[in-house]
Amino acid sequence: MRTAVLASETDFDGWRVAARGMRLAGVNPSEARFRVGGAEGQGGLFEGLSAPTVLPAPFKTEDFTVPAAFVDLAREVILHRAVDRFDLLYRLLWRLVDEPDLMKVISDRDVAEALERAKNVSRAAHKMKAFVRFRQTHDARGEAWVAWFEPAHRVVEKTAPFFQRRFTTMRWSILTPDGSAFWDTERLSFGPAATRDMAPAEDEVEEFWKTYYASTFNPARLKLKTMQGEMPKAYWKNLPEAALIPELTAASQVRTEAMVNTPAPDPNTRFSRAMAPDLHAARPEADSPPKTLDEVERGVQACRRCPLYRDATQGVCGEGPSSARLMIVGEQPGDQEDLSGKPFVGPAGQVLDAALEEAGIDRSDVYVTNAVKHFKHEPRGKRRLHKTPTSGEVQACRWWLDAERRLIKPKAVLALGATAGLAILGRKPAVMTERGRALALDDGSVGLLTVHPSYLLRLPDKAARAEARRGFVEDLIAARRHLG
Ligand code: URA
Repeated sequence: MRTAVLASETDFDGWRVAARGMRLAGVNPSEARFRVGGAEGQGGLFEGLSAPTVLPAPFKTEDFTVPAAFVDLAREVILHRAVDRFDLLYRLLWRLVDEPDLMKVISDRDVAEALERAKNVSRAAHKMKAFVRFRQTHDARGEAWVAWFEPAHRVVEKTAPFFQRRFTTMRWSILTPDGSAFWDTERLSFGPAATRDMAPAEDEVEEFWKTYYASTFNPARLKLKTMQGEMPKAYWKNLPEAALIPELTAASQVRTEAMVNTPAPDPNTRFSRAMAPDLHAARPEADSPPKTLDEVERGVQACRRCPLYRDATQGVCGEGPSSARLMIVGEQPGDQEDLSGKPFVGPAGQVLDAALEEAGIDRSDVYVTNAVKHFKHEPRGKRRLHKTPTSGEVQACRWWLDAERRLIKPKAVLALGATAGLAILGRKPAVMTERGRALALDDGSVGLLTVHPSYLLRLPDKAARAEARRGFVEDLIAARRHLG
């Protein structure tokens, strides 16, 4: 028996070096053992294994490469809690020398097992992103945020960069039974395992979560099974808002009518906006085109087509009747849209609403949506500043916009600004010269262009603003005329 001693449960590099050494030395999987730290040996890399300088035939160092797909998979599988994960991976590594295409044989028992475990790990990471809840504390350096979490697999280090990006301006710690992650606003570091009593129990932020969850909970879309799938009961004990679930569920029928008027959470709350829950992170989307707007909604919340989901609170889908003859497409949700989950509810939305009214268009007859469904931004102090999406991000998100267009079948699609124009035309238009023209779209509807309402908000000169606004209203009136 040959034993390799690893530095920790997630010591991928240690496993890789040890496994490679054993493979080169021809140590059969039934003879290989991997052990984490501890007293048995002196903590060296190998016990009972001499350095693999003399290699038994037929192995030669230069023959021995493994596909990158295996390395990526192994990196994930190591994070699984199954005690035999090192052995499973070594078995695969052993076989890869003679079966270089093994990783493509997904019906193979070892491959299937490894893929399944990688999926479990990925799911555990998604759940962690979705269900970590920070609680406020104070220490000598001031405000700090601490969360206790019990991940299904060892995903603290894997998910820590997500929390770093998301909560850049806050000092936080995530404590888990496996280890802890710390962010001091400059450096991410990791520490030992923790216990639940090391994290504070309750604070006023609990009330925020409850309010937030209650106001974003959509009773019309209540699907208890899905909800429990996304938020398994095991996680509920650490979620303040979970206390509301039975109550909200029971009242869902009644609230369906009333929910249309439910106000968005107050964006001026002292709670950091960036700490709104990551409601989307739980499920990878399916690749078949959505057949209903509900499927679009669910798909957007689980979307991984581009990285923008990572720093947004949630995806923001279109809103309006499925029979709408006019579709208006903006660029992407802004700060307030990101928090409320509805398009055009912030300052640009107010400009749009007023102009629609002046043009004689009832917003409730229009389907209003965006080219990109997640808020792209960068932190600036406590604020989140809008960043224009790239054409790659627009292209990735066309999957959803095209689905909305297919399902709504509007007569006319009005694009607000160049990004929306790119999304409906497939090329970046010159808005100022092309506005007012009826452009034939691929699905037979009429495409129209106008400026984005935030362009009006940015114009410093009052007279220029009034002039631009007049043009905007005229474009809306022209769009109305196309509806017949
Ligand atoms: N700007 C947009 O383009 N869309 C919104 O939903 C809000 C602001």
